[in-house]
Amino acid sequence: MKTVVITGGTDGMGAALARHYLREGNQVVVVGRSRAKFEALLASLAADGVAATGRASFLAADLSLVAESERVVEQIRASHERIDVLVLAASFIRQKRHETAEGHEASWVLFFVSKYILLTGLASLLADSDRPTVVNTSVPGAKAGAIDFDDLESAQRFSFVRSNAQQRRANELLGILVTSDNPALAYITWGPRRLVRTSLAGDVGRAMKIASVLLGAVAGQRPDDAIAPIITFVADPPAGRAAYRGATQVALVQGPHDTDDARRLAAETTALVTGR
Ligand SMILES: NC(=O)c1ccc[n+]([C@@H]2O[C@H](COP(=O)([O-])OP(=O)(O)OC[C@H]3O[C@@H](n4cnc5c(N)ncnc54)[C@H](OP(=O)(O)O)[C@@H]3O)[C@@H](O)[C@H]2O)c1
Repeated sequence: MKTVVITGGTDGMGAALARHYLREGNQVVVVGRSRAKFEALLASLAADGVAATGRASFLAADLSLVAESERVVEQIRASHERIDVLVLAASFIRQKRHETAEGHEASWVLFFVSKYILLTGLASLLADSDRPTVVNTSVPGAKAGAIDFDDLESAQRFSFVRSNAQQRRANELLGILVTSDNPALAYITWGPRRLVRTSLAGDVGRAMKIASVLLGAVAGQRPDDAIAPIITFVADPPAGRAAYRGATQVALVQGPHDTDDARRLAAETTALVTGR
């Protein structure tokens, strides 16, 4: 029996993965905001004859807050000795810059800082797995220079495209940090081949909402179909970093200063977390 932790496990692809791993008989920790969605997930499994109570647990947290991400780490560390699979799939798309109550840019924290906190805070639990695996649903392929180290929270200049590329690049560099600390770890950045018909939770303009609904209706995938390559990868994960679009492995983007950039990112993120 594996222990699988899934952020964003109450909806979309995260929920599809939670259902899959619970059907397989594993222990699953779901992190999200809505307990009602978690209860509905358990009810849908029960309706299919899958008794997940006792193997499924829910941690309510707003991962756009540093303090909440740290609390999740503490709670998981207090209740589990080992993590085999960590899926990072919490998502809330914001087209405009938004500051949290902690005074940080919400998307930067949700899509990068929170993942950094979880991965560093739970590293020892992953180290206790025979085949530790991290699936980071952050679309690979952003340019090597996509991070503006002088404006990580896009305070001076914000655009959705720029901030999204910066988060994606940061998540690739995060792979360098965690696999050098734990060479047995399999770390993938993964994005679907095409749009997936999920809730696409977020605060976006009308045009973006209509475009995603139309595109999803015409060419979208079902979450259960979209996650098939993740399930295949997790079943036999090669140690080290890799990047995938759907089932296709793609080249890792290599920059001239990746190791230095990864270290700088770690230092800046530690400063953000401790300076709170
Ligand atoms: N859908 C696509 O076509 C697509 C394309 C490219 C990449 N992706 C990536 O795939 C991943 C999954 O996307 P999805 O479309 O399946 O997601 P989704 O259906 O929009 O669901 C988002 C999930 O994130 C949770 N969440 C949102 N804000 C949160 C917060 N502040 N703190 C904690 N949890 C929060 C939600 O929980 P609650 O509902 O409980 O709040 C929900 O479980 C994301 O990383 C996304 O960027 C998706």
